[in-house]
Amino acid sequence: MGVLPTGEKKVFLSKLEEISRKALERPEEFWDEHARVLEWFKQWDKVLDDKDKPSYRWFVGGKINASYNALDRHVKTWRKNKVALIWEGEDGSVKKYTFRDLYVEVNRVAQLLKNFGVGKGDRIALYLPMIPELPIFMLAAARIGAIHTVVFSGFSSDALAKRINDAKAKLLITADGGFRRGKIIPLKEIADKALESTFSVENVIVVKRTGSNVNMVEGRDFWFHELIDGIPRNTYVEPEKLDANHPLFILYTSGTTGTPKGVYHSTGGYLVWVYWTLKWAFDPKDDDIWWCTADIGWITGHSYIVYGPLLHGLTSLMYEGAPDYPAPDRWWSIVEKHGVTILYTAPTAIRMFMRYGRKWVEMHDLSSLRLLGTVGEPINPEAWNWYFEVVGKKRCPIIDTWWQTETGGFMIAPAAGIALPPLKPGSATFPLPGVDADVVDEEGRPVEPNTRGYLVIKKPWPGMLLGVWGDQKRYIDTYWSRYPGWYYPGDYAMKDEEGYFWILGRADEVLKVAAHRIGTMEIESALVSHPAVAEAAVVGKPDPVKGEVPLAFVVLREGYEPSRELEEELIETVAENIGPIAKPAGIVFVGKLPKTRSGKIMRRVLKAIVRGEPVGDISTIEDRAALEEIMGVFKS
Ligand code: PRX
Repeated sequence: MGVLPTGEKKVFLSKLEEISRKALERPEEFWDEHARVLEWFKQWDKVLDDKDKPSYRWFVGGKINASYNALDRHVKTWRKNKVALIWEGEDGSVKKYTFRDLYVEVNRVAQLLKNFGVGKGDRIALYLPMIPELPIFMLAAARIGAIHTVVFSGFSSDALAKRINDAKAKLLITADGGFRRGKIIPLKEIADKALESTFSVENVIVVKRTGSNVNMVEGRDFWFHELIDGIPRNTYVEPEKLDANHPLFILYTSGTTGTPKGVYHSTGGYLVWVYWTLKWAFDPKDDDIWWCTADIGWITGHSYIVYGPLLHGLTSLMYEGAPDYPAPDRWWSIVEKHGVTILYTAPTAIRMFMRYGRKWVEMHDLSSLRLLGTVGEPINPEAWNWYFEVVGKKRCPIIDTWWQTETGGFMIAPAAGIALPPLKPGSATFPLPGVDADVVDEEGRPVEPNTRGYLVIKKPWPGMLLGVWGDQKRYIDTYWSRYPGWYYPGDYAMKDEEGYFWILGRADEVLKVAAHRIGTMEIESALVSHPAVAEAAVVGKPDPVKGEVPLAFVVLREGYEPSRELEEELIETVAENIGPIAKPAGIVFVGKLPKTRSGKIMRRVLKAIVRGEPVGDISTIEDRAALEEIMGVFKS
């Protein structure tokens, strides 16, 4: 099943095994050596401290700064005048920043943050569109040891408020608005609404992007351009010498229960991990133009638009707008215009482009491309083949990278930087060095080849999350209690007879909608916040483009009747609570939800019905009529 362009499996495995063996058998020695690619102010005393496991700590005693490693380190070299960031606006305007330009701006913004009294350990929330100020503020925060929490600009005011409150952010950076398909998203207005229910934010800095009229609160809100004007270009802010385990950022992500978790990452281990994973998987070179299409509001953007590429001194491209705006060839025109050599995106985007047809791709010269990457959800072989043939013209290997917000960087991916293995469409191939992955059954026993089991990571790795912000118990319960001693990512997987890993989707109540991670529980809580709703259960329904979409089963309270209007109102409630990405594709009004005798909603059964699969064992069901009602709906 191996496909072109293919590596020699024997060569690949022997090279990978050689490195992996060392990484797993003598991790301290391995990482001691590998961490030195970055510049540390002080070397670590201990590579891995496991005395409080599973709260592992890497490079203990080491002092480092992310902004220094991303910028100052290059400004001292010939890379000073190399382009670090290419930004393309939705309107087609382009801005380029050399490493020196970014360095200048980051220093100025770091000073600005200090002027607001922001210092080491303070949290600042960034609610910004995909504009250069976003990475600039991230790096400026990192420079002074402030912890950034970026909130995806597609999230609603409620979602923003929750994150600000959990992180107790002191400062909020937003914009007057953001462009999406030529329309303006009123970010400042949304932020103002969020601020009505937050207590920690003292000031708001507003970046002018759209020129919309916004309400500025005297003494609280300030225009970025006015503030930055007063800060000279030769401003230098000494980078803080931070402990390796000083948190670099918090990023909220959905889980099975409760509100989104504040996953927070270290400075040292995280940087080492994003550096090496990018090197091993893509082996980027100085003349590469790297384009990761994610939004910086997600981990993919943090690790592989901002930190990873800059650590490598690469030119990283960021695009502001929608992929198919103003026409379905927008991405391909960007690849051609900027000579993109490595494109890293999600299967959902590929499936969308497949729908538009190959002609939009073929309008452009894509010969600059040399590698293609994918992330965020399992890639179906049809999408893989289309990406390979139509976009990559069968010349570019597909680097399918499995990882998560929590892992900081890639975990399982073809290590093209070591030796390219023969690829199989839909398989992320093998774990990278330092990743001790396996597929096991409920009891933790390795499963037979080609059998579905649970993915586990049996050893700590430098990029691992430090914890869940403010809730270390949740960290242990979520990731380390299902298989004590092992990290549990919550994914189904299998290994084939050749040892290739195949990720088969989430094993829990988390959805991947267009590669975005959304908890069914969050959507359910949003629905039950509506006065008409007594109970709600949300499951993922397969979708040809988005992978899956949320479908909600709703039981109404006495006095409410199902209607088209109510359905729309409920969908809107979800958009208001979370954001448009979480909108259910539909609401199924039912008289009763299938429950076990102990009162638990049988989501597994609902999921099976929606997917047209056998419902399996229903011996514990409390009332079969509830099930029959729903089965009736789906039969028709
Ligand atoms: O289910 C897996 C899926 O995305 C989840 C992590 O989501 P998030 O934290 O939002 O991070 C996404 C970007 C790193 C995983 O638990 N996933 C991610 N990459 C892949 C994938 N599923 C299959 N193949 C992948 N390459």
